[in-house]
Amino acid sequence: MKAHMITYGCQMNEYDSHLVQSQLVSFGADLVDSIDEADFVLVNTCAVRGKPVDKVRSLLGQLRKVKSQRPLVVGMMGCLAQLEEGQQMARKFEVDVLLGPGSLLDIGTALESNGRFWGLQFKDELHEHIPPSPQGKLQAHLTIMRGCDHHCTYCIVPTTRGPQVSRSPDDILRELDLQLAAGVQEVTLLGQNVNAYGVDGGARLAGYPSFADLLRMVGRSGVKRIKFTTSHPMNFTEDVAAAMAETPAVCDFVHLPVQSGSSRVLRRMAREYSRETYLGHIAAIKKHLPNVVLATDIIVGFPGETEEDFQETLSLYDEVGYDSAYMFIYSPRPGTPSYKHFEDLPRELKTERLQRLIVKQKEWSKLRNATKVGTVQEVLLRGDAHSEGFLEGHTRGNHPTVVPKAFGAEGAGVYPVLIGHSTPHMLYGQIVDADGQPLPEIPRLEAQAAALISPLQMA
Ligand code: SAH
Ligand code: SF4
Ligand code: F3S
Repeated sequence: MKAHMITYGCQMNEYDSHLVQSQLVSFGADLVDSIDEADFVLVNTCAVRGKPVDKVRSLLGQLRKVKSQRPLVVGMMGCLAQLEEGQQMARKFEVDVLLGPGSLLDIGTALESNGRFWGLQFKDELHEHIPPSPQGKLQAHLTIMRGCDHHCTYCIVPTTRGPQVSRSPDDILRELDLQLAAGVQEVTLLGQNVNAYGVDGGARLAGYPSFADLLRMVGRSGVKRIKFTTSHPMNFTEDVAAAMAETPAVCDFVHLPVQSGSSRVLRRMAREYSRETYLGHIAAIKKHLPNVVLATDIIVGFPGETEEDFQETLSLYDEVGYDSAYMFIYSPRPGTPSYKHFEDLPRELKTERLQRLIVKQKEWSKLRNATKVGTVQEVLLRGDAHSEGFLEGHTRGNHPTVVPKAFGAEGAGVYPVLIGHSTPHMLYGQIVDADGQPLPEIPRLEAQAAALISPLQMA
């Protein structure tokens, strides 16, 4: 069987796609790079906003057309598959295999059932399953918990992914060991709300560390860089900032979604914190980590958001001074409380506010990135950039970075980089040696040739 996977959504979905891909390989499938080559196409879906849902709908339409011309098994997995909305779509577009986020390990049964299988249960075995490590990659995701116990009024995730289940520290550390053995240097611990790790359904699990202690444990594994996402401000404790400060491998990077700067809107979102408590967390983080890089998620145009509420979001942005932000227009999701109880604001108003927020974000990103010019940053270079002769990667603070290839550093690796130039979205620099001196750059044409030769040399 030749299988092709298409992934939408967040890092959780990327992790799950990798997990299912490794299952497919273990059942003898070849993974191929395009729909044309495939006899099984599996779409990993996202339902968090209207846009990703629309994308899935049009892709499934396209796949049904292909199916009418030649034999093809179509599968749908992930968050949308768990919802009635997705299941209706699956019927309409003749989807053969449907796997909810808790049933991923049913992929084998699905394949055996001659391409007619729907699995929608949340199965415990998934939490204990340890997927093989990504080969030849410096970066890996590691799921430490699934689901979410919060009930933010706008959010569909608790419905699609079910209640929170933390993975056991043993399983996490075993998976990490495999990743380290495979050469991973940066691990990102994943969960919808990592700060609540070990406290499922409000009860602390016996033998599970707190998230702060989990960071300390992972820090002792020998991995070079640790990141984590996402943190919910409600479950944030100062001990997490303290653990970050005393664990050198943990990057000084915190993604703490605020959603809104207005306590009134936060209440309507049922976020369970106020503007003041959020700013208190930021102050604690900055106290323990003076060089911290801060990122956030913001929803603009939540139902009932007034101009004054929005101004509070803008002023909070200035108070925190984020390095980067994911900004979303509120998207009403059927099945959520805010969809049922609140009226959506006019589209133009939401778009106009988003534009103003983007201006703010660009100003801050420009300012924050400019402070890196002249400093040496540790950059994890993943490999070739779009422009020939360049490598791309990211700093410990997650800033995308581009460098020219240099002698002694033609490919992926973790290198010190002297930053020479910045834009709001990118840092540009040169790889340096232990004394901070730039390594000699490889002239463009030679760099191209090196890119062709190095995979052969490695083999
Ligand atoms: N568990 C994470 C977020 C997961 S969803 C957390 O609580 O931080 C990722 C982001 O999508 C959220 O932070 C939010 O900003 C955005 N989001 C979720 N539902 C949305 C909706 N209905 N409309 C617009 N943005 C939404
Ligand atoms: Fe959604 Fe809130 Fe849970 Fe995040 S914490 S996944 S926004 S319900
Ligand atoms: Fe989307 Fe599910 Fe992630 S809804 S954002 S793929 S948790």
